[in-house]
Amino acid sequence: MKRETEMSREAQRGGVDRTKSAHTLWHGDAARVCELLPAERRFELVYLDPPYSVGATMTMRERSGEARGRMKKGSGRAAYGDVLDVDGLVAMLASVLVRVRDRMTDDGALYLHMDWRAVHDAKVAADRIFGRRAFAGEVCWLPGNGSRGARGFAVTHQTILVYAAKEKRLLRFAVDHPSLREPFAETSQAMHFTNVDADGRRYRDRTVGAKTYRYYADEGRRIGSVWADIPAMVANTPLRKEGTGYPTQKPEKLLERIVRASSREGETVADLMCGSGTTLAVAARLGRRFVGADASDVAIEITRARLAASGVDYRFSSTEPAAPSEALHS
Ligand SMILES: C[S@@+](CC[C@H](N)C(=O)[O-])C[C@H]1O[C@@H](n2cnc3c(N)ncnc32)[C@H](O)[C@@H]1O
Repeated sequence: MKRETEMSREAQRGGVDRTKSAHTLWHGDAARVCELLPAERRFELVYLDPPYSVGATMTMRERSGEARGRMKKGSGRAAYGDVLDVDGLVAMLASVLVRVRDRMTDDGALYLHMDWRAVHDAKVAADRIFGRRAFAGEVCWLPGNGSRGARGFAVTHQTILVYAAKEKRLLRFAVDHPSLREPFAETSQAMHFTNVDADGRRYRDRTVGAKTYRYYADEGRRIGSVWADIPAMVANTPLRKEGTGYPTQKPEKLLERIVRASSREGETVADLMCGSGTTLAVAARLGRRFVGADASDVAIEITRARLAASGVDYRFSSTEPAAPSEALHS
């Protein structure tokens, strides 16, 4: 008890609060969750990975031989429906985004993860909600899928739209952590990093105006907007510890990069369509507080098992009146 009180004091001072109430998980619709949260609850970072308008029920892989993804013969149990057409999906998203925006801190960031089917419509809707100048760019994530389909170029990327809470764009990007850096191009290394310091490190000096900047080859450069170094396989193979069998589960490394880029320890990271709970597991591991939610029973079941396996405590609530509300679970 004493420990919890001390931790709460630490939280009041702006430190990391690891008490049970630091994290919350909701079963229910994302828009409704935003309405039910306490007025003072604010998000420094929001990651949303909605359905993509695939036009199918998405299924689990929990046993060997079961097919994961779109429902077909031999599929595992249904996880969630991805059946809205693009207009329906974007209308649903817009109702969530309006409420999310109103809960973001002034310097907060939204990462909206989509694929080619609805990303352009979603961009137009998000521009209207956040303001066009709040759009801070996009990440092109290459999950490493093989080429499939014969209707033109195979789709080998997904898009993550990044928005600031306000058109003033007070976004923060922490770019110096190794997870936010990538190696310099080989040609650049060969041409420019020709000096070696006393410790044997290769470097180059660049003089801009009166100032000289030193760059080390082993530190790499700031990550750009094309992320090709995080394969989806780590999350999607049952052989991997991280794999839960949930369809469209994202790799923890992807979320780690986003969480490190746009939040600090003790801040709140929200994922209101959390699926298997990837964002929540990463946020807790990195000392952030999470607000998680999902409308699917199966998503909540998988997320709870995942958080329990990591020993993460959280407050669990439901938007449904019949369900037990605000009960503590671990
Ligand atoms: C692409 S999956 C998320 C996968 C997740 N990023 C992961 O790593 O496991 C989309 C999720 O959105 C949820 N969802 C769809 N509409 C929702 C809504 N209105 N409110 C809350 N969750 C919703 C689905 O149940 C599904 O779990």
